[in-house]
Amino acid sequence: MTDISMPSKSDPARRGLSARINRLLAAPAFQAWAARFPLTRRMVRRDGEALFDLVAGFCHSQVLMALVDLRIPDMLMDGPMTASALGHRCRIPPDRMAVMLRAAVSMKLLKSGRQGTFRLARKGAALVGVPGLREMILHHSVLYGDLSDPVAFFRGEVETQLAGFWPYVFGADGQGDPDVAATYSNLMAQSQLMVAQDTLSVVSLRGVKTLMDVGGGTGAFLRAALQTSPKLHGVLFDLPEVVAGTPETPLSDRITVQGGSFRHDALPKGADAISLIRILYDHADETVASLIGAVYAALPTGGKLIISEPMTGGDTPQRAGDAYFALYTMAMRTGKARSAAEISDICHKAGFSQIRALKAPRPFITSVVVATKTATI
Ligand SMILES: C[S@@+](CC[C@H](N)C(=O)[O-])C[C@H]1O[C@@H](n2cnc3c(N)ncnc32)[C@H](O)[C@@H]1O
Repeated sequence: MTDISMPSKSDPARRGLSARINRLLAAPAFQAWAARFPLTRRMVRRDGEALFDLVAGFCHSQVLMALVDLRIPDMLMDGPMTASALGHRCRIPPDRMAVMLRAAVSMKLLKSGRQGTFRLARKGAALVGVPGLREMILHHSVLYGDLSDPVAFFRGEVETQLAGFWPYVFGADGQGDPDVAATYSNLMAQSQLMVAQDTLSVVSLRGVKTLMDVGGGTGAFLRAALQTSPKLHGVLFDLPEVVAGTPETPLSDRITVQGGSFRHDALPKGADAISLIRILYDHADETVASLIGAVYAALPTGGKLIISEPMTGGDTPQRAGDAYFALYTMAMRTGKARSAAEISDICHKAGFSQIRALKAPRPFITSVVVATKTATI
């Protein structure tokens, strides 16, 4: 058994060296010298700015939240406005509105113009144009509340509100409220566009005849896949109350809709590729292992598994995966963000081979692992 009181590979010489370096870097005299010394002063300044950004990050998030909540980017779509005009429309005194707008300028969401006007910067316009972004930002008030005592949060002592936010993850299968299902599916479908784009830009569906999307919501990913592959047939598998909201579209005659629960029902056979898009991170290891096992059983030899979701960086932690999605899923309390290596390992244990992590263009949106069933076990 591992002794958790000490790092497992504790090498006294290395620990001693690392402690000496830490003490040197933290010493005020060293900091003062490094800030003056020509070869280090730029680095010290960059470090200082980056550190201050971390210190102030929660203010940045709240400025963003207020802007989006008040729909200021939408109001600026038609052109620049002054702080008093915006303040009037948002019922915020002009001088306080000016503080918010200037903060947004410093965050490169807005630009200030002549005669005290403010207009959208590129990133500000994205707040209007990127599907699902507004909804994503607004629902963060729940996570923000859950993180208000971060030490208690990491100790696991907070009854998180996010745990009640996504009803279908929590075993409510089959008895869900269609209205809640619709709100949930809508939020997912809106952000699905970018996930589908990025996934399909790195995954090849050449030779695939039928793609089954398990946990496919109301079919947004399948429709995107069918659009790129004109001969492809799709099977949409999700909880009955969720697939009930699948819209009729010109692609509907190429999609078979199948309601069921991957926890309780066998997955339908017949697809030569199965996708799991933003599914695994909602669930505990046992559920994930049994789902991947069920996917393996449902695929023919040569069949392909496509997994796409935000992943952690594994041995190289990344901002999006490790400082956001890992906390988000921890607050949800049913699943967890995993690295491509961890997901590959689960696939390997289920019998898959030719497992590859593909380089997706925007890891803050999604990362991709593919695997093949090369032989039956
Ligand atoms: C995070 S959403 C992802 C939806 C879609 N794949 C996407 O990326 O937009 C998780 C999906 O898994 C579905 N799901 C959860 N538990 C399920 C179960 N036991 N059986 C089938 N689907 C389930 C949910 O209804 C939901 O549509």
